[in-house]
Amino acid sequence: MDLVIRGKVLIQGKIEECCLGIKDGKICVIKKILSGDKVCSFSNKIILPTGIDVHVHFRDPGNIHKEDFKTGSMSAAYGGITCICDMPNTIPPVTSMELLEKKKKIVSKKSYIDFGLFAAISNENCSRLSELNKHCQGFKIFLGESTQAIKLNKDNLKFVLSSNEVINKPIFFHAEDDTCLQKYKKLSSDCIDHVASRPAICEKTAILNVLNAALDSQQRIHICHLSSLEGLNVLRNRPSNISVGSTPHHLFFDVENINTKSSFFKVNPPIRSAIDRESLWLALKTGDIDIVESDHAPHTIEEKEQNFDVAPSGMPGVETMYPMLLALVKKDKLDLQLATSIMCKRPAEIIGVPKGNFSVGMDADFIAVDFSKISKIKAKSLHYKCEWTPFEGKEALFPTDVFLRGEQIIKEKEIVVDMGFCKQISSTIQ
Ligand code: DOR
Ligand code: ZN
Repeated sequence: MDLVIRGKVLIQGKIEECCLGIKDGKICVIKKILSGDKVCSFSNKIILPTGIDVHVHFRDPGNIHKEDFKTGSMSAAYGGITCICDMPNTIPPVTSMELLEKKKKIVSKKSYIDFGLFAAISNENCSRLSELNKHCQGFKIFLGESTQAIKLNKDNLKFVLSSNEVINKPIFFHAEDDTCLQKYKKLSSDCIDHVASRPAICEKTAILNVLNAALDSQQRIHICHLSSLEGLNVLRNRPSNISVGSTPHHLFFDVENINTKSSFFKVNPPIRSAIDRESLWLALKTGDIDIVESDHAPHTIEEKEQNFDVAPSGMPGVETMYPMLLALVKKDKLDLQLATSIMCKRPAEIIGVPKGNFSVGMDADFIAVDFSKISKIKAKSLHYKCEWTPFEGKEALFPTDVFLRGEQIIKEKEIVVDMGFCKQISSTIQ
């Protein structure tokens, strides 16, 4: 055994005093008492699985003034996330094997954590995806206009879901229907206009189109960042190959609790009503929503400070997501088992990686959290590049120590590995 971790560990829903034995980066035994040459004890802290964020935009290559893989992955690690999936709307967008390989070369030198790279399915590449399918960890389809979106139309959607171009890889959807968006499009001077120009009906329409196109399909489909009750209602009795995510910003914000004049809250899909927000929370608790994903989409303060209509959509969130949920656990507003299911276990299942819970054979990815040390989020204490957060002042429980595949990467709040300590994940979806 390479390492023994002792402490209060979350095992099958209960906190138990026990030990995790680690060999070759994996959990090899879980027992009340274990000894070994190297033992790490966390007596006052709780040991939890690290989070997996299946949806980030680390902007590398092409927009590294907003973020790059070094700052993005470091920031994730400080937020207790040791595995991310990066979306393909980088510049150039990841639409071919060559571009995917180029991106892999760049980011694997910079990342502190494990990563998956997603490729985009566009109207142009949708009939030749089989090579890309072998090398990417998943696909993203934008059904409507968004920041740097690479779009796919409805006819091609049916083709992709019924052809054998994509095999054993998850397909993620930005579900806002383009025809519908065009219909409601108008100049926006605040978040109220923005939500009126991207109404819930566009989300519902896109989801219905996906459900229809997927009727006889066994593809693993994920609906990203669900934002509305209307969208939720058509997903309630979905087949088991379809999963759903929501984001911290759709869960924490609604147009009644934000400064609607501020373009820092401009995001696609938009922040909606309190009723939408409350229904998303309820759905997380009943299992109608599977996971929380950050949709970390950083833009600089200068870019965000432009006129509302031209300011880009998107907000950062990878570092604050898991700590904010853990603060809700501390306040008895969220069950700990549920928090780790939506942050760790279900995301791992969706992308098909042996991570996200403590059982033998899983990657030894875990955090230590001191539940007495709740803090308030401050932009200046965060590690990503864009230097602002929409969650300023919200309560959070940041981990003190973070381990990835048995290696300590953060020790008492300091990063202790070199850049490039990472592995590209290999998804195995059946
Ligand atoms: O608000 C958004 N920002 N929505 C997206 O779909 C893309 C993202 C970005 O990349 O900035
Ligand atoms: Zn996104």
